[in-house]
Amino acid sequence: MGDNSPKNAPHAQSPEKARHAQSDSAAAQGVGAFIAEQEQKSLLRFITCGSVDDGKSTLIGRLLLDTQLILEDQMAALASDSSRHGTTGEDMDLALLVDGLEAEREQGITIDVAYRFFATGTRKFIVADTPGHEQYTRNMATGASTAELAIVLVDARKGVLTQTRRHSFIASLLGVRHVILAINKFDLVDFDRTVFDRIVADYLSFAGTLGFDSISPVPISARFGDNVIARSGNTPWYDGPTVLERLETVPVGDRLEAMPLRFPVQYVNRPNLDFRGYCGTLAAGNLSPGDRVRVARSGKTTSIDRIILGDDDLTAARAGQSVTLTLADELDISRGDMLVAPDAPPELADQFEANLVWFDEHALLPGRQYILRTEADQLPATVTTLKHKVDVNSFTHEAARSLDLNEVGVVNLSLQTAIPFDPYGTNRSTGGFILIDRLTNATVGAGMITHALWRAANVHWQALDVSKTARAEMKHQKPAVIWFTGLSGSGKSTIANLLEKRLHAEGRHTYILDGDNVRHGLNRDLGFTEEDRVENIRRIGEVARLMVDAGLIVLVSFISPFRAERRMARDLLNEGEFVELFVDTPFEECARRDPKGLYAKALKGEIRNFTGVDSPYEAPESPDLHLRTMDKQVSALVDDIHAWLRQKGYIA
Ligand code: ADX
Repeated sequence: MGDNSPKNAPHAQSPEKARHAQSDSAAAQGVGAFIAEQEQKSLLRFITCGSVDDGKSTLIGRLLLDTQLILEDQMAALASDSSRHGTTGEDMDLALLVDGLEAEREQGITIDVAYRFFATGTRKFIVADTPGHEQYTRNMATGASTAELAIVLVDARKGVLTQTRRHSFIASLLGVRHVILAINKFDLVDFDRTVFDRIVADYLSFAGTLGFDSISPVPISARFGDNVIARSGNTPWYDGPTVLERLETVPVGDRLEAMPLRFPVQYVNRPNLDFRGYCGTLAAGNLSPGDRVRVARSGKTTSIDRIILGDDDLTAARAGQSVTLTLADELDISRGDMLVAPDAPPELADQFEANLVWFDEHALLPGRQYILRTEADQLPATVTTLKHKVDVNSFTHEAARSLDLNEVGVVNLSLQTAIPFDPYGTNRSTGGFILIDRLTNATVGAGMITHALWRAANVHWQALDVSKTARAEMKHQKPAVIWFTGLSGSGKSTIANLLEKRLHAEGRHTYILDGDNVRHGLNRDLGFTEEDRVENIRRIGEVARLMVDAGLIVLVSFISPFRAERRMARDLLNEGEFVELFVDTPFEECARRDPKGLYAKALKGEIRNFTGVDSPYEAPESPDLHLRTMDKQVSALVDDIHAWLRQKGYIA
């Protein structure tokens, strides 16, 4: 369909005609034949990206309209909506077809990823319409992570913008292989060839280095249909494919099917003692009953017994299929493990380098613990190093201490246990992950693993004969961390000092780690920015752990303003070894006492990032002990702590 769309025609064919054409052909073929034909077609997943107003939604609307898959009721709704919201006068506004959400219509921007399906005679398509507005990088990344091709829209009047570079860069990072550079609104530049040549040269000058397999520039008018479906008479100088022709011919591969088996185990199904099934989606390769497989973590091998889908047993499964597998042998396999080709296993590492796209308003803080979620697993992870961030305009590397919303960087990550993975460039399913904030549960970033870091892998844990228990027994005590958190001047150090004096007098082996003191030595390189405080507490958590290992009762007195790091310190220790004490003194009282004169300076703006003034304090939600210093004398508070420690068995 879609013969030459005349420049001013709003759409190529009446919806009535389109609907009838389709139902007639379906009826003639018979539904079964029609479905069989659809199944044979190859599938292309693509995304559209561009700035607000570049015309993405209009382009998708035109593709859908002209490929005759618009349903009658959508058309009816469109006709009435166009007169209310449309920006195209009496013409039907194609963007309204795709901008489904009322909120988007009112703001005139697309704010969510909308997946749409359409088909032509040769191919099926799933298009992710991703938002162009600057703050929606998350949705763009979501759409790009499964797409093979990106339509990058550029307004012919504006040319390549920062957004164009950002989106192309993110698309390349997320493994998109092909680009259609759709230079839109050519009707508004009189179909001028020099505009086309200039924008193409401009685009290629940076995108040429991003490693795409192909970049196809097309001059279009999404609104009037030029070079979208059919070749336009308005661009006689252009002899390349139309957008749809390119979509129909770009190579889509069964690349994943040809690769070695990867079956991440998402869930172990054990309804009774006789059945143990492993559920997941084949991330690469294919499988038949009897095939030998290797368990990635243990290296043990076995063979596939059954492949189950619903109530049926399959004779084969291939990449992309979700199935349940049973194995010939009973092996120890849990969620997050992977069944793989015995002769081509993935890498196994607990430290690696990755590209990271940051989505959150709250910056990435190296040292903070996040939850890393892969397709099959989730586990705590820390960004140990932010190697650099990437300027999305020039693609140059810049030194950075944190990553802000929409920024992209290269990081080293450290996990508590090794995971099986492939580099993202080899397999997006087994090489990609998202990061989740432990406290808010928000998805804060998306990562693409580049390679394993072998540092820790070659440093083995040295087994020592004298254990923590042996050291503790000799001291006749139960080692623990007693962690004091509270505002500066709240009384942490005073209380900790008195408590230590008392424990010491009783013959217990103790040590105090105090913020002011440690910042003169071990942490003298750290200041009071959020990143530095995270690192400050990370180091102290590790030092406190070593001291507990040495059998000591460690009193830690740090503001430690963030819940995430206090939790991390707790997680470094065994259950019961970490006691959180909240030294609760109201801000006004701390400022009134002001033992070091710091509040006065901070309130005058002479000290930056001061806790409680221009840097937050996140009070503990359920501390083990809540010390309200306004109600009691220091000695009485120490009595309370002492009694509590005795009652809980920390001290005999
Ligand atoms: S923490 O936030 O990283 O845990 P830490 O306990 O090490 O802080 O250090 C806090 C001490 O540093 C305070 O008691 C105060 O004496 C001093 N200090 C200097 N500048 C600041 C600041 N901007 N914010 C808080 N404390 C500061």
